[in-house]
Amino acid sequence: MQVLGAVAILALTQAVQAQVAGYGQCGGSGYSGAVICTNGFECVSQNAWYYQCVPGTAAASTISTTTATTATTTTTKGTTIATLTPTTTTATTTTATKTPTSTADSCVGSFSPISAPDFVANLHPGWNLGNTLDATPDEGSWNNAPVVASTFEDVKAAGFNSVRIPVTYAYHFTGSSPDWTVDPDWLQRVSDVIDMVTSLGLYTIVNVHHDSWIWADVTQSGANITMIEEKFYRLWFQVGTKLACNPSLVAFEPINEPPCNDADDATEINKLNTIFLQAINDAGGFNSQRVVTLVGGGEDSIKTSEWFEAPSGFSNPYAIQFHYYSPYDFIFSAWGKTIWGSDADKATVLSDLQLLRGNFTNVPIVLGEYDASPTNTEPAARWKYVDYLIRNALGLDVSCILWDNGLDHLDRDTGTWRDPNSISMITKSTASTQNSLPDSTEDSSTTTQWSSASLFHEYGTQVVAQSLPFLFNGNTLSLISDSTGSILQSGTDYSVSSSGITLTASYLSKHLSPATSPGVIADLTLKFSGGESSPIIQIVQWKTPTLSSTSAVASSVSGADLSIPITWGGLTTVAAVKAVTTSGVYLVDDFTVYLGPLQQARTTYSSQYNWDSSDVILTSSAISSVISAGVTTIFTFEFFPRVNGVVNAVNFTLTV
Ligand SMILES: *[C@@H]1O[C@H](CO)[C@@H](O)[C@H](O)[C@H]1NC(C)=O
Ligand SMILES: *[C@@H]1O[C@H](CO)[C@@H](O)[C@H](O)[C@H]1NC(C)=O
Ligand SMILES: *[C@@H]1O[C@H](CO)[C@@H](O)[C@H](O)[C@H]1NC(C)=O
Repeated sequence: MQVLGAVAILALTQAVQAQVAGYGQCGGSGYSGAVICTNGFECVSQNAWYYQCVPGTAAASTISTTTATTATTTTTKGTTIATLTPTTTTATTTTATKTPTSTADSCVGSFSPISAPDFVANLHPGWNLGNTLDATPDEGSWNNAPVVASTFEDVKAAGFNSVRIPVTYAYHFTGSSPDWTVDPDWLQRVSDVIDMVTSLGLYTIVNVHHDSWIWADVTQSGANITMIEEKFYRLWFQVGTKLACNPSLVAFEPINEPPCNDADDATEINKLNTIFLQAINDAGGFNSQRVVTLVGGGEDSIKTSEWFEAPSGFSNPYAIQFHYYSPYDFIFSAWGKTIWGSDADKATVLSDLQLLRGNFTNVPIVLGEYDASPTNTEPAARWKYVDYLIRNALGLDVSCILWDNGLDHLDRDTGTWRDPNSISMITKSTASTQNSLPDSTEDSSTTTQWSSASLFHEYGTQVVAQSLPFLFNGNTLSLISDSTGSILQSGTDYSVSSSGITLTASYLSKHLSPATSPGVIADLTLKFSGGESSPIIQIVQWKTPTLSSTSAVASSVSGADLSIPITWGGLTTVAAVKAVTTSGVYLVDDFTVYLGPLQQARTTYSSQYNWDSSDVILTSSAISSVISAGVTTIFTFEFFPRVNGVVNAVNFTLTV
């Protein structure tokens, strides 16, 4: 997944017109906004949830069908590209241009070979330089400025051992078929960023990223597979040549999340792995000894387990890389799913990991992207998820690389981490670590959600002692300190039982009174005798927020996102948004009727709603849905704590 931040940014900053502007969203599951791109752009599927307007000339989809030649079975090292490409014309041309350059063949210095199992074990924990060199059309085009070396120092200081560097080449080609020349300045920039990482002794995995859907999508009907293979070989030959002399800290990943619908697509993706290996080996230098992380369809655990076949005939040590953003509704805040952690939730994650490990018992496996973002997931549920995912991945010898789009985890401007507790569990936990965690609702059939990651006190009510249920997991509480610098006294300020921690009324009264203005009043940092979790619990004074207006006429606000100024009443986040027409029909996703009470009729973050520091936002897509339904719709914005889905919620009506 590469898009979470981009979606948020685009939704906030771009007015989506009847014609979608360049790089705007133009489709995807749950999206019902404009689908026609502005002149010169065309709508291309990035993943099931996100289609984007990209420059029309760059996409392969307009090229008419050519029958693909199936992969030869004689793809041994040293075999000419003629066996990999469909036409002798191409083969001759490409063979002529692939002659290894002296740069690649005369690397200065030596290479310390490393096995794939060692490389993979050493790279954990890893961090992704998301939405940066992969941004389209160029680095800096999305929400991150061009990366600077100090960012990697911050990443290393936090305890990460590797950086995955996603790179999109799509808009950096200066030549076309058959050479597909890549802008040398761009190759140099990629090389320079890799040097920033390796000079710190960090491992890195470098890839070809959004090219997967921009021009290398083998699932598109009419895709010119010959062109994709030719371009892919030429791209990796040039990248392989540029990076041929890099140390063994540098691994290559052929392509990010290649779209794949069926076994035929998967066969072609297996072939792309082979073409990639051929290209980097032809480029020479140290590449024949370099670790590679090969990919299956979508870098999805199921498609990879079903259809991935390792190429034969190359000497490169290899691992398999896959990505994991599951369950989708929790990770992407879809359909009001703000809880995680039931036995069934855990069993699903574990069986997903086991499926891949079970199919590839002797192959090192890298989880190259996962993320429960502090921007949109509830902290207690998030910490349970991170703890469970990391420990169980490590238990199956799967190394993990955190996705970070620049808005999720590291604030690159200040060098601070937005959720230090997740980072601590990611960087320090082991397979056997038992982390102490705030408990929270796990049962999706309830109407009320509670969480010990926050100590909620309602405005206008007396301050009384409050209990925070905790999962101590065998550890004991050793210290509570608060954001005023005080260390809390056991007995006077709090007490501990086997099931939780109780803060006394006298302690809470130091921070709160019935009249305290709503907001986050103080933080409590908890330390335990064991484990790597050190949760920060927010003391929150809350009352129901108010909106500056409570209705609008849909037709008069259509075509753009609608920002509604809000006076927040505690945490400055939206928990969920319900959308029901005045006829009682769910505006979108009527299947949510089968979900629990906190999920019914709920919409999806970023597709239908969003927020910023002073507004809640209905997306143009949500407004379009109302207009096409032709019925006045009530949007109910819900906040934490979620109380019966009714209290601590406000209505906004879009009339037709
Ligand atoms: C497909 O791509 C190949 C290689 O770039 C090219 O020679 C051929 O003309 C293309 N076919 C069509 C139908 O465009
Ligand atoms: C291998 O993958 C297939 C397809 O996803 C799955 O059905 C099977 O259970 C997996 N095998 C093991 C041993 O995990
Ligand atoms: C929102 O509107 C619905 C439908 O009229 C109503 O049942 C609900 O109580 C309202 N909620 C709030 C918080 O006003």
